[in-house]
Amino acid sequence: MDISGNPRVLSEIPCELQSRLAEHGQEHVFRFWDELDDGAQCKFISQLETINLEQFTSLAGLSCHERKGKLAPAPVVQLEQSCKDSGEEAIRSGALGVLTVAGGQGTRLGWSGPKGTFPAAPITGKSLFQLVAEQIMFSQKKYKTTIPWYIMTSHENEEATISFLLDNNCFGIDRTDIFVFSQGEVPAVDSQGKMLLSSKGSIAMNPDGHGGVISALKISGGLEEMESRGVRYLSYIQIDNPLVHVVDPVFLGMHIGEHSSNEVSSKCVAKLDADERVGVFCLLQDTLTVVEYSDLPSDDATKVDDQDRLLFSAGSIAIHIISVDFINRVANELPWHRAHKKVPFILAETGKQIQPDEPNAFKFERFVFDILPMAQHSLVVETDRAEEFAPIKNATGSDSPESSSALQLERAARWLRMNGFEIPEHARVEISPLTASAPEDLAGIDLPRVIGDDEAMVV
Ligand code: UTP
Repeated sequence: MDISGNPRVLSEIPCELQSRLAEHGQEHVFRFWDELDDGAQCKFISQLETINLEQFTSLAGLSCHERKGKLAPAPVVQLEQSCKDSGEEAIRSGALGVLTVAGGQGTRLGWSGPKGTFPAAPITGKSLFQLVAEQIMFSQKKYKTTIPWYIMTSHENEEATISFLLDNNCFGIDRTDIFVFSQGEVPAVDSQGKMLLSSKGSIAMNPDGHGGVISALKISGGLEEMESRGVRYLSYIQIDNPLVHVVDPVFLGMHIGEHSSNEVSSKCVAKLDADERVGVFCLLQDTLTVVEYSDLPSDDATKVDDQDRLLFSAGSIAIHIISVDFINRVANELPWHRAHKKVPFILAETGKQIQPDEPNAFKFERFVFDILPMAQHSLVVETDRAEEFAPIKNATGSDSPESSSALQLERAARWLRMNGFEIPEHARVEISPLTASAPEDLAGIDLPRVIGDDEAMVV
C-alpha cells in the first residue's frame, strides 16, 4: 500500500511484451502483477522474455499425435565382437564423447536433488554421476585418451549439478573435459491453451524432454566444442541406469561399420513380457521408429512367433551411439509430444496455490528416439539385459533403488565367477568402475580376501 491506501503499482508492464502476450491470448498472466514487488516483477519479465511465443502458440494447438501406417518388428542384430578393434581405434583417436541426459525431474523417484546425485551403488553408495565419471576415467586410462563428457541439465537442476561435480572434484575428470549445458523449457497449458501460473509472478514451465538434448547441443555451442576436439561419435546414456556400459568399443565399432557409418545405433533388450513398460523398436512403413509402450496396439504387443516369442520384443533401453554430423543436420527437426499431467498452479480468482489430484494441464516434450526416423542408416543391436540394464525410476518395486542394487550385485558376482572366483550365493560384491569395465578386465586381479556367505566386499 502507498500512503493514500492504494495498492502500490511498482512499475508498468512493458507495453511491447504486454501486447505480444495479448496477441497470443495470454495477457491473463499479469493478473497478479500489482501484488508483486520490484524484484519479483523483474524476474517475471525476464522469464516471460525467454518464452518463444510463436513456438508456444503452435504447441498449444498441437493435437494428439496419430500414427498412420502398419507396424512391423524392427530388424535386430547381435553384438559382434569382431567390431571391437575399430571401436577401440576410434576411442584412442579421441573421436568418442559421452553424452548424458540428466535434466529430468525424477518425480517418480522423489529424490530432492538432481537424479545424478542419487546414491546408487549397493555397498559404497556412489552416486549415479560418480558411476559414470569413473567409467570414463577407466577408459581414458585404458585407451590413453580424453573422452569429454557432455551433461545436459535443466534450468532447475543446473546449479546443483555443477556444485555437486565441483564439490567432488569432478570425480577425477579434468574439469575442462566436462561440458554442462541446460535444456530448454516450455510452458504448460490448461485445456483452453492458456499458460498456467506457478506463483503470482512465474509461469509453470517444464523441461522440454530428453529429446531437448538435440537442439540444446546446438544452441549451447556443444556441437562446435565437439567439432573443435574432433569428437565424431557420442555415447548417449541416461543418468539413471547404473549398469550402462558408458564406453562400449564393440557397439561403437558396429556403429562405425565397415563401409559407411550409421547415423544412430541403438541397444535393445528382449522384453520380459507383453506388458513391460518400455518403448519398442518397430518399422513404421519401413522406417525405424520407437513406439512407446502406451502406443503399441495390444494386438501387436501380444503377437508371438511359432516358438511363442513376442514378435514386437525389441525393448528400448535408451542407449545409443549418435554421430555428431547427424545431430547437426536434425537439430531443429524433432517433433513435439503432449502429455496430460498434474501441474500445480495459482487459481486466478483467489490467487491460491492448487495441487491438482487429476491431470489438469498439457506438458510438451521431445523424445530423443524421434531422431531415428530421420537417420539414413541406423542399427538396432540386442544386448543382455542382466549386463546393461538396471534403471532407477521408481521409489519402490520394479526399477527402484532396491531392484537396481540387486542387479548390480548379481552382475558383479557373475563377472568374478567368470574369472574363476568363488563367490558364495549370499555374498555382496560391488566392482568399482575404476577396476573393470567388463569381465575380462578382472583377469589376473587379486581379490583382497576370500569372501564368506553374507559378507560384503568392494573390488
Ligand atoms: P525419465 O523419462 O525417466 O524422466 O528420464 P525422469 O525425469 O528421470 O523421471 P520422472 O519421469 O519425472 O519420474 C529418462 C532420462 O532422461 C532425462 C532424465 O534425467 C533421465 O536421465 N531427462 C528426462 C532429461 O534430461 N530431460 C527431460 O526433460 C526429461
